[in-house]
Amino acid sequence: MKLAILGSGFIARFYADALVGQRRKDEITIVYSRTLSNAKTFADDYKVPHYTDSIKECVSHKDVDAVIIGLSNDMHLEAVLACCAAGKHVLCTKPLGRNAKEAYQMLQAVEKANVIGGYLEDLVYSPKSLKSAATIQSGAIGEVIWAKSRETHPGPHSDWFWDKEKSGGGAIIDLGCHCVELCRNYIGKNMRPVEVMCWADTRVHPIDAEDNAVALVKYENGAIGQFEVSWSFRGGMDLREEVMGTEGTIWTNNFLRTGFEMFTSGKGGNYIAEKAESNSGWLFPVGDEVNELGYNHMFTDMFDAIDNKKQPMENFYDGYVVNAILDAAFVSAKSKKWEPVQIDDWRGVAQKKVQKEMTSYNEDYYLIKEEVLPSGEKKYIIKNKKTGSIEKR
Ligand SMILES: NC(=O)c1ccc[n+]([C@@H]2O[C@H](COP(=O)([O-])OP(=O)(O)OC[C@H]3O[C@@H](n4cnc5c(N)ncnc54)[C@H](O)[C@@H]3O)[C@@H](O)[C@H]2O)c1
Repeated sequence: MKLAILGSGFIARFYADALVGQRRKDEITIVYSRTLSNAKTFADDYKVPHYTDSIKECVSHKDVDAVIIGLSNDMHLEAVLACCAAGKHVLCTKPLGRNAKEAYQMLQAVEKANVIGGYLEDLVYSPKSLKSAATIQSGAIGEVIWAKSRETHPGPHSDWFWDKEKSGGGAIIDLGCHCVELCRNYIGKNMRPVEVMCWADTRVHPIDAEDNAVALVKYENGAIGQFEVSWSFRGGMDLREEVMGTEGTIWTNNFLRTGFEMFTSGKGGNYIAEKAESNSGWLFPVGDEVNELGYNHMFTDMFDAIDNKKQPMENFYDGYVVNAILDAAFVSAKSKKWEPVQIDDWRGVAQKKVQKEMTSYNEDYYLIKEEVLPSGEKKYIIKNKKTGSIEKR
């Protein structure tokens, strides 16, 4: 694949590390940055033959098949429209829009231009998330009742994130987008999200946006997705998931406490991991951040989709649904009530809430629970099928 990258900041560099890492054959043809000197530095660092400070020139370069957007949130719509006008496939970082209205404009634009719109939600492509999703799809943990995703860190690295107008919100839009999509992948993307209850507050920083939030997202089959996000968490970046199914459980820890622990006096201090707050004492490095954050698998899926003229696993429709859920979270944080998720263009297959079949203890009783007590005694909690009375045996 011949690629253009819009942006030369934090995520553009992570993407480039994945794109030109290992023995990948994909090539970055051109990079755009609004400051020519930044574009040149990026081009020099990654051996990119062309650089520019014009978005139009970048996306319409003749040797470009697909454009990767790594610009601040307020620039996503403009950049996507420029790619569509140039007839180029477009892969946009998260969140797709600052709100569902913007995201839907982008979705419509790629569909009209007949180009692939890939949503660069890396965390669903981490090896642990891919394995979890495949395990859930195989039925190994039964029906998912509740999926929780937590992303917390001490706050982002650039000014524009903290400006609500430019970013579209605080920790909810920045981190909640990851959590919502992880939960959707576990609960099932055909499950329609119906309503959201959210608490959000600005506890620590002098900003208008929220720096902490917790929300519950209810799906049409009764499943609950929960997200916990913070820009004031101390101690690095905490990325964890918990999934509870009727037949099993999955816990993943993606960043802190991954089984890699290190002590250093800090005298030779160096980069430890994204958002690490210290480079001395006991530390929790990450072996291969690019891979463990999902960037490699993500780009493989995106490019395979373009080659095969198919939708990638994460596409602009997903980005739109995520934005719609987050919009409802913002409304709920104000109203302090469950708020409906407004998705005018729902494309999932309708699902019904299925009541789990009850297990019989015998002809007259259902089995609620069986347990072996410390004494070795086996206890059964049962329910009379006729009277409903709950008893033990
Ligand atoms: N895990 C992830 O997927 C992940 C991680 C970090 C950031 N992101 C996303 O990537 C995007 C960029 O974030 P970042 O961390 O790289 O930020 P950054 O500040 O490091 O880089 C932003 C880039 O956008 C450019 N830019 C900013 N305002 C602009 C404007 N008005 N016109 C033209 N260019 C402009 C900057 O020059 C820079 O090149 C955001 O949408 C962010 O949410 C995704």
